[in-house]
Amino acid sequence: MTPDKIKKLLIVFVPLAVVVLVAGIFLFNRHNEEIMGGPVGEIAPGEVVSANWAPFYPVHWDSYQTNLENDAKPSHFEGREYLRTIYAGFGFAAEYNEPRGHLYTIEDVIAIDPARKKAGASCITCKSTQVPELMEKYGADYFLMSFDEIIDEVTEPIGCLDCHDPATAKLRLSRPALINALERQGRDIDKIPTQEMRTLVCAQCHVTYYFQPPGKEVFFPWDKGTTAGDILAFYDEAGFSEWTHPDAGTGLVKPRHAEYETFLGSTHQTAGLSCADCHMPYTKIGNKKISSHKWQSPLNNIEESCTNCHRNGTEWLQDRVKTIQTQVKETQDTAGWAVVGAINELKASREAGVDDARLQEAMELHRQAQWYLDYVAVTNGLGFHNPTETLSNLATAIDSAHKSMESSREARLAVGEQI
Ligand code: HEC
Ligand code: HEC
Ligand code: HEC
Ligand code: HEC
Repeated sequence: MTPDKIKKLLIVFVPLAVVVLVAGIFLFNRHNEEIMGGPVGEIAPGEVVSANWAPFYPVHWDSYQTNLENDAKPSHFEGREYLRTIYAGFGFAAEYNEPRGHLYTIEDVIAIDPARKKAGASCITCKSTQVPELMEKYGADYFLMSFDEIIDEVTEPIGCLDCHDPATAKLRLSRPALINALERQGRDIDKIPTQEMRTLVCAQCHVTYYFQPPGKEVFFPWDKGTTAGDILAFYDEAGFSEWTHPDAGTGLVKPRHAEYETFLGSTHQTAGLSCADCHMPYTKIGNKKISSHKWQSPLNNIEESCTNCHRNGTEWLQDRVKTIQTQVKETQDTAGWAVVGAINELKASREAGVDDARLQEAMELHRQAQWYLDYVAVTNGLGFHNPTETLSNLATAIDSAHKSMESSREARLAVGEQI
């Protein structure tokens, strides 16, 4: 080749190579931003409207929208009639539905039975991306506002801002109750490893909590530890009761969906798994692979959720889950009726004129039995997240309920009543 020909070739190929390179970088970056959540900088800081994140992450938006398919809403009471008796005198006795998809939170909280709205504005704390903003706007008054005062301001269900930083799409914690609880444990929330963040973003809401008097602030009762026993010990020490059972006379506390606490210490958690490993598995959408943003039962997609670790086949896995859940359900029913027994014995003792002082021990045991039973009954997953601890909690519930019945009867005998 003559130098002239080389020159001509270079004149044609160099610009072409530059064009290809620039286009390549552009496409790679776009792909990168879309899939890896690289810096985008154009989503407004504090953007509560998830639809405004959609142009930057269209595939994630599509995945998020599929939560609308998760729309069944059965009652918690179905097949568990004892719950109505144990919740007597409290809002939950009126209505208690199973959860459904994240996009339904506003619709569901608005449709809630009026008996449950007494908890006030705090009801929406785990339902909307707008909550941290509203907490800032109203300060401590937020927790004291009524449900009707706040509900008109809330339009966005759970969304991107709850778990992501708009500038970088990195996982972040948005709920003060979790941040405060972790800080009380001595954690530096800026130094939490990603794998743990993949659990903690869920622990902003999938936990038990209470409205701490006197300001009614949403508070995670973990200062003595995160097992059912540790949490009850915390309430006992604080002398906290949420309501008094009308028939038994016992001061009671109500656990809520303790998925995170139950998961802690399980086989899967100690093996290093996070909630996202099973509930947000990598999934192929078109030619892209993303963390699924359809939060649902992993049994709907076992091939994605379980079989990258477990090679025993989907049928085996399905059977294992069902076996665990059936055992838990049967033991839970036994515990449920035992707690009803404890309530009935206390009621009979009161009707026979036994005074409070003599029923102290029976009431303490009833409080304990009901706590451990309810802790299992309201935690989603029916024991799968930690089968051994769940069955152990139910064993405590059954034992305490029987001891309570015995103690009530003894108190009745002591005042000369025939049994
Ligand atoms: C801002 C609070 C919040 C966060 C954060 C959150 N959830 Fe939820 N989640 C809820 C609420 C509230 C519901 C019930 C919605 C309803 O029924 O209206 C729910 C429902 C669900 C359901 C559906 C249950 C069913 O029976 O269909 C699953 C599964 C779930 N969440 C898993 C997760 C996982 C996994 C994470 C973390 C990656 C997470 N959630 C983060 C509040 C939250
Ligand atoms: C309940 C929490 C939660 C919500 C709500 C949520 N995400 Fe995610 N998102 C996650 C988790 C967990 C991951 C996995 C992150 C990791 O492994 O580093 C993730 C990953 C991502 C990624 C990184 C790429 C990937 O697929 O792993 C992007 C981008 C993303 N989400 C965008 C969004 C957008 C857009 C929305 C709103 C439409 C949204 N997310 C809503 C929890 C959430
Ligand atoms: C090892 C896999 C695995 C991990 C890790 C895991 N889960 Fe689950 N989860 C399941 C299975 C299996 C079920 C039962 C689904 C069913 O009964 O259909 C379930 C049920 C649930 C449900 C109820 C969904 C429904 O449709 O009934 C929620 C909510 C939930 N998990 C949240 C969480 C949270 C929050 C974490 C982390 C603290 C977590 N899970 C960790 C496997 C897992
Ligand atoms: C990231 C890997 C991983 C994923 C995903 C995973 N598991 Fe596991 N699983 C493990 C490990 C590790 C153990 C501990 C025992 C072992 O080494 O096999 C385990 C143990 C179990 C056990 C034994 C019971 C127990 O609690 O000790 C069952 C049942 C099980 N897994 C079911 C499931 C189901 C169902 C899913 C999907 C919803 C799932 N696993 C998803 C890693 C995983």
